[in-house]
Amino acid sequence: MISLSRKVKELVHSPTLEVNNQVAERRAKGEPVLHMGFGESPFPVPERLQKSLATAAHRKDYTAAAGVPEVRETVREYYRPLVGDVVDDMDVLIAPGSKLILYALQAVIEGDLLLAIPSWVSYGPQAKLLGTEVIRVPTTSGAEDYQIDPQILRECIKDARSKGLNPAKIILNFPNNPTGLRMGHDNLEALIKVCDEESIFVISDEIYGQVAFDEEYFSMASFGVGSVAISTGLSKHLSLGGWRFGVGFIPKNVPGLFEALCSFISETWSCVSTPIQIAAQDAYRKFPDIEAHIADCTRIHQLMNTYICEGLRGLGVHCPEPTGAFYNYPDFEAFRTDFARHNIMTSQDLCEVLMSEYHLASLSEAGFDGLATRLTLRLSGVDYDGAAALEAYQGGEALNEGFVHKYAPNLKLQIETFQMLLAKVKN
Ligand SMILES: Cc1ncc(COP(=O)(O)O)c(C=O)c1O
Repeated sequence: MISLSRKVKELVHSPTLEVNNQVAERRAKGEPVLHMGFGESPFPVPERLQKSLATAAHRKDYTAAAGVPEVRETVREYYRPLVGDVVDDMDVLIAPGSKLILYALQAVIEGDLLLAIPSWVSYGPQAKLLGTEVIRVPTTSGAEDYQIDPQILRECIKDARSKGLNPAKIILNFPNNPTGLRMGHDNLEALIKVCDEESIFVISDEIYGQVAFDEEYFSMASFGVGSVAISTGLSKHLSLGGWRFGVGFIPKNVPGLFEALCSFISETWSCVSTPIQIAAQDAYRKFPDIEAHIADCTRIHQLMNTYICEGLRGLGVHCPEPTGAFYNYPDFEAFRTDFARHNIMTSQDLCEVLMSEYHLASLSEAGFDGLATRLTLRLSGVDYDGAAALEAYQGGEALNEGFVHKYAPNLKLQIETFQMLLAKVKN
C-alpha cells in the first residue's frame, strides 16, 4: 500500500485555480457564469513582446540557475528608480513565477512564518508543505481596513516565542491580494523596524507593485534597513501569468542566502525556459510602448474596480476603496441577520449561494486564511475583454461609467446580481 506524505494530506487545490476550473467547466457546458473568482489580468501580450518571444524561439540551452546574467542586470536597472540604489545590495534571480520564489525563500529560511489575516491563498499552504507553522497576525478593521499594526505584530512575535514557536519570517504584500489595499509609508516603516529589531526576515511580495492606482511604486526594501527580499514578476502589470516569469531580489546581508537559493533551484526547476527569459528582458528595457501599456492597463483596472466598489457601496455593503491590484474585499456584516434567515452564516455559505443560485463565482475569506466567521468575499474585477477595452482607451475613449457598461457589461450584471441577492434576503 502506497501512502501519501503527511504534508500533502491536508493540501487542496489552490482555491483561485479551483474556482477558475469550475467556471471553465460551466462555461464549456454553455452555462453563463459571472466570474469574480480568479484574478487574471485580461490584457493582451504587447506586440513587441510577442515578436521578442518568436525571435528567441531557437534558444534551447539551459541557463545559469539564477537566470541569464544580462537579463538579471536589465531587471536590476529597471527596478533602480522604483526601489532605489538598495538594488545594488541585492542579488537578482529569475524563477518560473514569483510563487516559486516565495516557496524557495520559505524553504531556505529556517523558522515559522508570520502571516496577516487575511493573506493570499498560497503562502500558508506553502508553509505547511515545508512543515513550518503559520503564526497569524490580526489586521485592523474600520476606516483603515486590513492594516498591520506594528505593535500588534510585536506582540504576536513575543506571544509565539513564549509558546515555543520560532517566528523567523513574514510575507508582506502591497498592493494586496485579497484586499486591493496598500499601507501608509509610516506604518510600513514602523513594521520594518519591528522586523529588524526582532530579527524577522521580510519577504515583500510586490507582484502588484506596478498596479498601484496612484502609479507610485513603493518597495519595502527602500527603507534600506533589515533583511528584505522582494518577489515580483510579469504576471500582473503585464498580464503575463502564463509566461511564468518571476523575479527575486535577494539581500546580500544574509550570508549564504543567495547561494542556498541557487542550490535549491539547481535541484528543482534548473532554470526558467530560455526563450521566455530572453523575451522577458524586453519587458524591462523601458520601451515607451511597454511603459504606456502598463500605465494604460492600470488605469483600466482602477476604473473597473472602483466601479465595483461604488456599486457595492450603493447597496449598503462596506467596501474599502481599492488602491491597487484588481480586487475588492467587501464585508457583508450589515446583512448578517438577513443572511442568517436564509442559512447564510459564513463567507463560504455566501460564496456557495452566489454560485449555485446566481451563477456568480467569487472567493470566500476562508481561502485567504481569513476568519471563518466574517462575511467577506474577494471579488476580482477582470471579467471583460481586455483587448477591446485597451484598444478603446488607447483610441481616445474616456474612462467613465459608460466605458464600463460598453466594454465590461458583466461588471454591471455582477452589481445587479448582488442587488438581487440583497433584495431577496431582506424579504
Ligand atoms: C499576492 C500574489 N502573490 C504572488 C502571486 C504569484 O504570481 P506568479 O507566480 O504568477 O508570479 C499571485 C498570483 O495570483 C498573487 O496574487
